[in-house]
Amino acid sequence: MIKLSPSILSADLGNLKEEILKLEKGGADYIHLDVMDGIFVPNITFGPPVIKHLRNITQIPFDVHLMIDKPERYIEDFVEAGADMLTVHVESTLHLHRTIDVIKSYGIKAGVALNPSTPLESIEYVLDYVDLILIMTVNPGFGGQEFIGSMEKKIKKMRRIIDEKNLNILLEADGGIKLDNAKEIINYGLDIIVVGSDIFRSKDVIERTKMFKSL
Ligand code: DX5
Ligand code: ZN
Repeated sequence: MIKLSPSILSADLGNLKEEILKLEKGGADYIHLDVMDGIFVPNITFGPPVIKHLRNITQIPFDVHLMIDKPERYIEDFVEAGADMLTVHVESTLHLHRTIDVIKSYGIKAGVALNPSTPLESIEYVLDYVDLILIMTVNPGFGGQEFIGSMEKKIKKMRRIIDEKNLNILLEADGGIKLDNAKEIINYGLDIIVVGSDIFRSKDVIERTKMFKSL
C-alpha cells in the first residue's frame, strides 16, 4: 500500500501542533519536513530547533527533506532533532557518498533527492548505499506548483532499475501531487508520495488525509 508523507510547508505554521495531530488522525505514515536555506532554494523555512519541538508532539516518523547547501554541515543536528529519514539533494553536496555514509552511521535512513533536471545517472554509484530516492516533481522551493509531466518517465525508469537490481530502496515523489492525479502518479511505481497544499488548503485536513490514504 502507498505510504503518505504530508508536507507541513503549506500548513498553518502558527498552529503546527494541531496541524500535525490532524495528520496523525488522518493516518499519515510520515511527516515530511521541508528544510530550506534561501541559498540552495529561494525560500527559507525552519531548522533543527523547530523539528526538535515537533518531535514531542507525535510518534510518526519524520521524513526530513534538506534543501540546503552543503548539508553535511548539519547532519548531526538533524539526527539529534529527531529525523528518522534524512534526505539530501545530489546537487547540494560535493561528497554525496560520504554524506550518505555519515547519515547511516547514526542508524537512520539516508535518502537522496534529485531536482527535475538532474539525471538518474548521477546516483548510479550510490544505489547500493541509499535507503530512499526522492524524485522532485516540481522545482524545489515552494508548495502549490504543478506536477512536471516529464517526471513520469523518470519515476518509471527508477522503478525499473530498483526492481531489476533488486535494491532495497524506497521510491518517493514530491511536488504537485493532488487527489485528482495521485492515483496515476502512484502507478508509475512509487512507495511514498509527499502531499502539501492539496491537504492543507482543503477545508478538512483529517478527511483529506484519509482520502489520500484510501487511494
Ligand atoms: C517543495 C517541497 C515539497 C512541497 C510539496 O520544495 O519539497 O515538499 O511542500 O508541496 P505541494 O504538494 O503543494 O506541491
Ligand atoms: Zn519536500
